[in-house]
Amino acid sequence: MTAPTPVPRRYAVIGTGHRSEMYLRALADSHAEHAVPVAFVDPNPVRMQYYVDLVASLHPELAPPSRWAPEEFEQMVAAVRPDAVVVTTPDALHSEYIVAALTHDLDVVVEKPITTTAAKARAIAEAAQRSAGSITMTFNYRYSPRNSLVRRLVADGEIGTVTSVHFEWLLDTGHGADYFRRWHREKEMSGGLQIHKASHHFDLVNWWLSDAPTTVTALGARRFYGAEHASEHGVDPAARTSRQLAAEDPFRIDLAADERMRRLNLEAESADGYARDQNVFGEGVSIEDTLSMLVGYREGAALTYSLHAYAPWEGYRVALNGTRGRIELDVVEKPHRAPEETEIDPSARAEDGAADGAEATVEVRPRRSVLRLQRQWERAVEVPIPEGRGGHGGGDAMLLDDVFGVPAEDPLGRRASWRDGLRSAAIGIAAEESMRTGSTVDVAALGIEL
Ligand SMILES: NC(=O)c1ccc[n+]([C@@H]2O[C@H](COP(=O)([O-])OP(=O)(O)OC[C@H]3O[C@@H](n4cnc5c(N)ncnc54)[C@H](O)[C@@H]3O)[C@@H](O)[C@H]2O)c1
Repeated sequence: MTAPTPVPRRYAVIGTGHRSEMYLRALADSHAEHAVPVAFVDPNPVRMQYYVDLVASLHPELAPPSRWAPEEFEQMVAAVRPDAVVVTTPDALHSEYIVAALTHDLDVVVEKPITTTAAKARAIAEAAQRSAGSITMTFNYRYSPRNSLVRRLVADGEIGTVTSVHFEWLLDTGHGADYFRRWHREKEMSGGLQIHKASHHFDLVNWWLSDAPTTVTALGARRFYGAEHASEHGVDPAARTSRQLAAEDPFRIDLAADERMRRLNLEAESADGYARDQNVFGEGVSIEDTLSMLVGYREGAALTYSLHAYAPWEGYRVALNGTRGRIELDVVEKPHRAPEETEIDPSARAEDGAADGAEATVEVRPRRSVLRLQRQWERAVEVPIPEGRGGHGGGDAMLLDDVFGVPAEDPLGRRASWRDGLRSAAIGIAAEESMRTGSTVDVAALGIEL
């Protein structure tokens, strides 16, 4: 007797913008045997139509997902009866959909950061404990081969007990600037880069250490972007969008130049007035671009962390000091940025070995990752990083298999829960409080269950 064909699980996708494409390609194509899209919820009909078209092109036999406005969420659940939701809205809106879905005992797949404030974090924890539905946090950086390797070396005890971590993250003037063009520029929407962006990095440290934060001290400032720096860049702060900047201005982007950008953003603008290319030196920026932090952990480790969003190259440097040695991971994602370049996010490219030949021969900072392990009394060795292909170094593909496919064995514990989401968001939330008060924040005082 042959085994019955599994019935695909039915997903509603909430927030059909840029990031939802990765999930929709999985649901309509690579993982359609296990999971399919049945409904979209988004205030913007143009963006929903873009994805209705994409789904039809990938899987013509599939019924087109029905389309709903945000205020129709309850009606959508009653009419469509999905098994689960994927939440890819702006960060500050995640919690309302997570709680609403869990109230119906639906499973939730949610992008980082899980949320942006302590009150929303507490509401998620309460709903998660009451519901029969589950939350899967999609921390794709865990799946990147180099980051997974650090986890394995630490878990194998190669450097003994980790006592401190130094973590420096550099965003360049292309990718970094992009946070100041979109909704991310408003702290109300993104929580600031300490939550929106650094939640990836804090999750990595929490996961590498298998530990939870206890105290956070943070300094943050806006030293480069924002209307207050417009004159230094010869830009008019009254210009609302980058379209109004001089043609040769390196911070101008052309939404019409790219087919996807044009359809998903420029043509969608008429529906909600949202401009995806706001002037990075315009009014209304409320997030920091320069962050420095000190985080204490339950088991005694200390993390020093910094983020700059206007560096001349993009990548990160991590050092983990342990009682038996040290690990250093140096990652160059983009060695330099030329003023006329238009590609925004280098991390979406393949991870290693992807430097083009010309660049590799003349560039003193070639695009590559190096992981060094040095045990006490020994010489340093370079540990080879397995090659990853595709978005976020192959991490996106592996993550999708875990979320929608048949879950593989998970010896490194890469699959993340709501508690992992809250642990990483809590550091950013505490950092915000520390910047506001000028004091060290006791994470437990936020009342977030970690
Ligand atoms: N893990 C990663 O590497 C990664 C990469 C990019 C984005 N993200 C995350 O994905 C999420 C979405 O980011 P994005 O870049 O796609 O942003 P986006 O602006 O491109 O898309 C957001 C979508 O949400 C919609 N939306 C706005 N208000 C809504 C509401 N009330 N209800 C439902 N939908 C609403 C918008 O119309 C838009 O279509 C964010 O949480 C972001 O942090 C993660």
